[in-house]
Amino acid sequence: MANPQVARRILVTGSAGFIGSNLVRHLAAAGRQVVGIDRREPAPGTDFPDHLRQVVGDLRSVDLAPLLEGVGTVVHLAAIPGVRPSWRDFDDYVECNLLVTRRLLEACTTAGTPRLVIASSSSVYGDGVRGPMAETRSPAPASPYAVTKLAAEQLALAYAHRPGSRLSTVALRFFTVYGPGQRPDMLISRLIRAALTGDEIEIYGDGTARRDFIYVGDVVEAITRVVDANVGSGVFNLGSGGNVSLTELISQVSELAERAPRVVHRDRKAGDVGFTLADTGRTATALGFRAATTLVEGLRLSIEAQRARMATTSA
Ligand code: NAD
Ligand code: UGA
Repeated sequence: MANPQVARRILVTGSAGFIGSNLVRHLAAAGRQVVGIDRREPAPGTDFPDHLRQVVGDLRSVDLAPLLEGVGTVVHLAAIPGVRPSWRDFDDYVECNLLVTRRLLEACTTAGTPRLVIASSSSVYGDGVRGPMAETRSPAPASPYAVTKLAAEQLALAYAHRPGSRLSTVALRFFTVYGPGQRPDMLISRLIRAALTGDEIEIYGDGTARRDFIYVGDVVEAITRVVDANVGSGVFNLGSGGNVSLTELISQVSELAERAPRVVHRDRKAGDVGFTLADTGRTATALGFRAATTLVEGLRLSIEAQRARMATTSA
């Protein structure tokens, strides 16, 4: 069934970020009316004057009411996303990940905004799981970052379930997202840069940690489906349903880039989990979505994008 909010404007928070910039580019190119907000300047290549208005502002203080005018769905991606630095900068994580979410939920309630989609994280499942992670599993966050992501998604659901609430909220638990524009602190972008330049890459632990990597184009497709589908409030995994070890990943990147990076092993970092793997059943049933991009194809596209970037800049 089509969602009656489809024709209305979409507000994307975190629109200058890795996932946000890929999302607003896709939505605007498809002719949707989009407003993006981020405290950073818009990402390059997101200039669609007829379809995309980009606002620079800090969600901790910006006036949200004018941004929500005529908006049918808010896709809330803005957050501080790194796992490992969250032991140190916890106040910033609480402010940007949790208090900003509350501010947005209050503003949506006041404005009568019907739908909010929030980016959650596979990190809410924690460590110790060695099989598919289903949404029914009890969360056990292993890092301060994961605590803030779990709190934010649960707060969003609490707002939806409040008596008389007209706001529906969907939390998407992204597994590790990669692709063109991936944040420079993340493994795959570092690995590709190291392979292409011959620089060193530090691997935390012995390389046996496993990750369910999902290509950013698939994440964008899934978010678009959530915007368009009449799916009720709830939590959904967004992963590929497969995983690889860091050692296997290094081999694949080396083969595709035709050059191996220089790997140095360091101690495992606090907060990192040893294993992630999405159970994709609920998302497939409710949204008809399954990730389509294989890891080899996604890595090939990522390497191509990094080569192009290095040819034009010093990045
Ligand atoms: P990113 O850092 O590239 O994008 C986040 C954006 O939010 C940034 O551009 C940042 O400037 C903005 N932001 C943060 N605080 C803000 C504030 N107070 N006001 C305005 N803007 C603010 O990160 P990303 O990798 O694109 O992640 C997007 C979302 O997905 C985050 O919520 C993250 O927790 C979640 N997530 C990401 C991954 C992944 O693998 N990348 C996996 C799971 C969940
Ligand atoms: C990523 C995102 O950064 C989080 O926002 C998100 O919540 C999380 O995915 C998720 O899946 O939910 P992470 O899995 O730590 O977190 O992603 P990477 O930074 O790409 O790290 C992947 C693995 O590589 C980890 O085991 C990490 O320890 C390792 N790594 C990372 C290295 O060995 N070296 C590096 O330089 C970077």
